[in-house]
Amino acid sequence: MKDNHLSRRDFVRVSTAGVAAMSLPALASARTGLAPETPGAAPQQQGGGAAQNIIPAWRPGDADSFTRYYFDSLMLEARYLDSDIPSTKFELFGETFDTPIMTAALSHLNNPQNGMILYAQAAAACNAVHWMGMGEDKELEDIIATGARTIKVIKPHADNNEVFRRIKHAVGAGCFAVGMDIDHSFNTTGGYDVVLGLPMKPKTTAEIRSFVKASSVPFIIKGVLSVTDAKKCLEAGVAGIVVSHHGGHVPYSCPPLMVLEDIVDAVGGKMKIFVDCGIVSGIDAYKALALGADAVSVGRHLMPILREGADAVAKRMKAMTAELARIMADTGVHNLSEMDPTVIHRTLF
Ligand SMILES: Cc1cc2nc3c(=O)[nH]c(=O)nc-3n(C[C@H](O)[C@H](O)[C@H](O)COP(=O)(O)O)c2cc1C
Repeated sequence: MKDNHLSRRDFVRVSTAGVAAMSLPALASARTGLAPETPGAAPQQQGGGAAQNIIPAWRPGDADSFTRYYFDSLMLEARYLDSDIPSTKFELFGETFDTPIMTAALSHLNNPQNGMILYAQAAAACNAVHWMGMGEDKELEDIIATGARTIKVIKPHADNNEVFRRIKHAVGAGCFAVGMDIDHSFNTTGGYDVVLGLPMKPKTTAEIRSFVKASSVPFIIKGVLSVTDAKKCLEAGVAGIVVSHHGGHVPYSCPPLMVLEDIVDAVGGKMKIFVDCGIVSGIDAYKALALGADAVSVGRHLMPILREGADAVAKRMKAMTAELARIMADTGVHNLSEMDPTVIHRTLF
């Protein structure tokens, strides 16, 4: 980091004080245009228009609000000399995509009824990597049939035989990578999670290694939010990690970008590093990429647009890629390999 930039640790100190001084409910309200929620109330959903963000407004410890605040605290300097129209081509596991902006691993998109298929069709139309979360075998096969190059994220099922079965099915169905969301192993009352009746359990590093060995395609861990877990993933031989708090699954989770640079320092170049949570624009995507992510995923921001069809979702994804390209041009970045964290300045306000 250059001398004129705050260090990451300094920023954390300053921003923590700043958040307290500013009143986070007021900040979130300004962001969303909605009245702040009553603390403790159920999260509010913003429906409707294509570009709207459905991330809930403020609630105590809300990691989504902290994540938005963190994105908005990162400023960009400009670098016009020797700049030109950039390429957003993205290489992953031997394949080339038009954008590093991917879909997020969503599931159960039942409004509209065929939401999961529309979501996959949109990714295919953008030549973007598509992620699928929880779901049954047939749904995955239908998604693959759309032509979307898909990464399947398997839940941390208590029964490892179910994990091995799902890895085999996903590879056979045509997924070009598979993974596991390790952040879904505990429930909110201190026990093991049960998701739609299916029991979950935390995994050991040795178990992750066994999943890696069982998979003939790259294996990815989703839900890494520390250098500690990132190093264990590297040790287990995983091909990539998603730095994520699963949409605020745990209150007070670090914004992914707050830990991203330390994770990049520890394991960058040795595995792929993806980021999700709270990305609603190409500028958010740019900040994650500048700080060392290889690619980013967008989930809830795209969900309301599904009601307008796959073409509308694809249009928004392409617009986000155009936003990314515009900022790359403004900061002298010709392609993704030239992303540079020194473009980012951290605010004192
Ligand atoms: C409706 C819905 C379903 C989700 N299902 C899964 C899932 O099955 N597996 C998973 O790993 N993540 C799942 N997620 C989490 C997303 O992959 C992602 O981590 C989270 O939404 C944060 O990204 P976002 O802020 O862009 O939405 C789901 C999120 C939503 C909103």
